[in-house]
Amino acid sequence: MFSGLYILLALLAVIPYILRKNVFSTTGAPIPPGPLFRYAFLRKYPERALHAWAKVYGPLFSVWMGNQLFIVISDPKVARDLLVTQGAIFSSRKQYFVKNRTILAGRAITATAYDGTWRHHRRLAMQFLTPKAVEGYTQVLDYEASILIRSLYQESKQGKLALNPASYTGRYAFNNMLMISFATRADASHSPLVERVIELAMEFMDLTGLFLGKLYPYRLIFCDLGPWSNAIDFITPLQWIPTRMRSRARKLHTELIDVYGAMYLALKARIDGGEVVPECLAKTLIETREVEKLDWEDTCMLAAVFALGGVHSISGIIQWFLALIPSHPEVQASAHEELDRVIGRDHWPNAEDEARLPYIRAIIKEVQRVHAPFWMATPHLSTEDYEYNGMFIPKDTAMVLNCFTMHHNEERYPDSYTFNPDRYMGDELSCAESAKLSNVMERDHWTFGAGRRICPGLVVAERELFLAISRILWAFNVRALPSAPISLEEYEGTSGRTPMPFRVEFEPRHENVDGVLAGIEEMKA
Ligand code: HEM
Repeated sequence: MFSGLYILLALLAVIPYILRKNVFSTTGAPIPPGPLFRYAFLRKYPERALHAWAKVYGPLFSVWMGNQLFIVISDPKVARDLLVTQGAIFSSRKQYFVKNRTILAGRAITATAYDGTWRHHRRLAMQFLTPKAVEGYTQVLDYEASILIRSLYQESKQGKLALNPASYTGRYAFNNMLMISFATRADASHSPLVERVIELAMEFMDLTGLFLGKLYPYRLIFCDLGPWSNAIDFITPLQWIPTRMRSRARKLHTELIDVYGAMYLALKARIDGGEVVPECLAKTLIETREVEKLDWEDTCMLAAVFALGGVHSISGIIQWFLALIPSHPEVQASAHEELDRVIGRDHWPNAEDEARLPYIRAIIKEVQRVHAPFWMATPHLSTEDYEYNGMFIPKDTAMVLNCFTMHHNEERYPDSYTFNPDRYMGDELSCAESAKLSNVMERDHWTFGAGRRICPGLVVAERELFLAISRILWAFNVRALPSAPISLEEYEGTSGRTPMPFRVEFEPRHENVDGVLAGIEEMKA
């Protein structure tokens, strides 16, 4: 009899975590429709489940995970109505136990609730991310793009050896962020400190849901984990027990503070020693820390923000470009034609050439549409009850932007599964400008999120992508190996997606490649 009672009690405790719960507003409006089972069977590729559910339940549906309600937005107009127009309500972040509360301790901008601290920290970071600021350090990005091309050329033995591009694209993105943050870079032989930064980033990925093989040390740093990664985030009692997950998360937090703190102090020592260091985020923090009233954790996490946000994402998009382009020879040929016509072969494209290369820009936008690194952006959290089209969105709901479905909206992107840069010809806006369009159906893509939490790094990201991709196309014919086809269906990561490891050939397109690269030397860290 007792065992029957125990089973009944256990069922009563467990059922609310499994079955869908219905919640109503005071006016009787229900939450948006959604699947019956509270546990979403999201598996390896959650966007596929979201896409299937969007077809069944429509542009706004809901899914329960443990005790957390997620509402999934799959339509541009709904995204505008909620995340942009009602930005005062839909701009916070859920304090996930592992990532946001324990590892990032509510900091690093992305983990901060929608409050004064978020405004303050975002303002400090934005000093280095506005279009004007990015112009100011474009020579750094330009140099790193040159080193990227030089490395691909040399290490592929002038195209004779196929390469896995991951570590090269990773180093490119990583060095850009290190230079902007700490006025330092990793040369081919890494410093112990840089090695440590990489190890921590891998632990971050591992703990927050993204596994990346240790073979590819630079493809790491940050993804936004997707909302579905850790059971401990959704089942509160698990947070009270001393699990291995909890102790690893706490240890990682301490180590992030130690390592980024050490990088900050190393820069401070250079400045105190009389060295004139270039403008960078950490230098600004050193100069303004007292006035800005930043505590030590704020300082370290802010100094880490660019390395956390701007490496895996950018590296991933360049890798997707390299994985895609060999199977679209007609696109590559059109890009080469545009480069030869507009730039010629005596020198390669520079930042100021971007507006004159609409087809290259279109390729970059199309890669981002077809292979956004974060199919679910980073969920926003609602801070008030809200009713929308007769549906109830309770306070503390996590709002997921379903970019996969939005990027396959046939009305906006006819034949949406085809990689077709031509669809962006005539779109002369940058991603930042496009995100501000009042007609959201004309926005280029949603890869950088939406509303007040939109990625603050999008201007520098676009510049980095342009410099890398336009120069790769200028210098090389990128070809797949007949013996090693590239899979575009499978990928690594949960929501911070990169292609499965692959190799391509970088065949120099003309003899001027060698001449242009001859004058470029690798700077020591
Ligand atoms: C192609 C490259 C990148 C992609 C695809 C990307 C994507 C995203 C997305 C989807 C979000 C969430 C937006 C939302 O909540 O609606 C985000 C937030 C963020 N990104 Fe990026 N990002 C990229 C590059 C960068 C770079 C270069 C930096 C830093 C220099 C950066 C720093 C951040 C930060 C700090 C946040 C949190 C913003 C907040 O919560 O207010 N990202 N990014």
